[in-house]
Amino acid sequence: MPETADDELLNIEGLTIEIERRQDTVTLLDGVDLSIKKKRSFGIVGESGCGKSITVNALLGLLPYPLRVSGGRARFKTGAEELELLSLPPEKLREIRGREIAMIFQEPMTALDPVFNVEFQMCEALEFHRPGMGKKERSALCLEMLRKVNIPRPDQALKSYPHELSGGQLQRVMIAIALMNSPRLLSADEPTTALDVTIQAQILDLMNTLKAERDTSIIMITHDLGVIAETCEEVAVFYAGQVVEEAGAADLFHRTAHPYTRGLLRAITSLGGEKRELYTIPGMVPSGGDWKPGCRFADRCEQKMDKCTQAMPALMAAEGPGHRCRCFLWGDETETGGTV
Ligand SMILES: Nc1ncnc2c1ncn2[C@@H]1O[C@H](COP(=O)(O)OP(=O)(O)O)[C@@H](O)[C@H]1O
Ligand SMILES: [Mg+2]
Repeated sequence: MPETADDELLNIEGLTIEIERRQDTVTLLDGVDLSIKKKRSFGIVGESGCGKSITVNALLGLLPYPLRVSGGRARFKTGAEELELLSLPPEKLREIRGREIAMIFQEPMTALDPVFNVEFQMCEALEFHRPGMGKKERSALCLEMLRKVNIPRPDQALKSYPHELSGGQLQRVMIAIALMNSPRLLSADEPTTALDVTIQAQILDLMNTLKAERDTSIIMITHDLGVIAETCEEVAVFYAGQVVEEAGAADLFHRTAHPYTRGLLRAITSLGGEKRELYTIPGMVPSGGDWKPGCRFADRCEQKMDKCTQAMPALMAAEGPGHRCRCFLWGDETETGGTV
């Protein structure tokens, strides 16, 4: 089916994030463009520190000081309306958060309050976004949501406190809370990283099922391409504050274009599979302020050429529709800006 602009739920253009330090200002995210489609799962993958979390946090005004958005647009299409998320006033963002866009995080324990039981916390989310709903109705919906996320003995779980549930159960509660208001977009930031592999596979299955049932779009953030393989239709690979490859998931895995993505592929922890010796890409992700001219991956790249340290490659067409790659193996286009 040909895609049209109508299929788009969120369009991010040139998103740039900086941090103010005492002496200088440093760029952490450098002109990121992303297009999230309705009812699809979009993966953001890259090693720790590449800018995945700050990207989604910026959308909902959740950047901690002294980080700030210094450029870009993020147009969120709710029905007939189009909202520019980056310039919405805080009270409007609060309305959107949880209702239109819900988030789940790596550590469910930190997102839940230890002194209140599950029911109280679920009802609180409903009270804020659906003030008209009666108490009985709210409790019934909470129970139904816990059933949907396959929590064993949901009535008992409803009365439990966070410390009485396992990590996997807590993450199910978080998913239940996130989906309770039927958001158009669910952002899941490393939702299974803290869980063991069997539970991880179950949670990903659950997210896939709920997405299909509820027509929710998902942004799945992970450092593990194995998670992307299980869940996503489109993928952007982040490296040092930039997108270095973007493609449909099948093309990313079968026509891998960027040497960095190939490195990530070798480092996959196969889901539910046997633990084997893990490959890690030699070297480290350079942090903001530490970017040299040229390709930011050059220092760690097995295919480095002379020009790689001289100019920044642009995102260039690679094999397959919409497949783009920031690497001179795919052409000679360079990009100005950045640190070049
Ligand atoms: N609160 C903060 N203070 C200073 N630097 C930060 C803060 N949060 C993130 N950063 C920096 O921003 C960059 C991107 O971070 P993040 O988005 O958390 O990476 P990822 O989610 O890909 O692991 C990193 O270099 C990180 O050190
Ligand atoms: Mg992160």
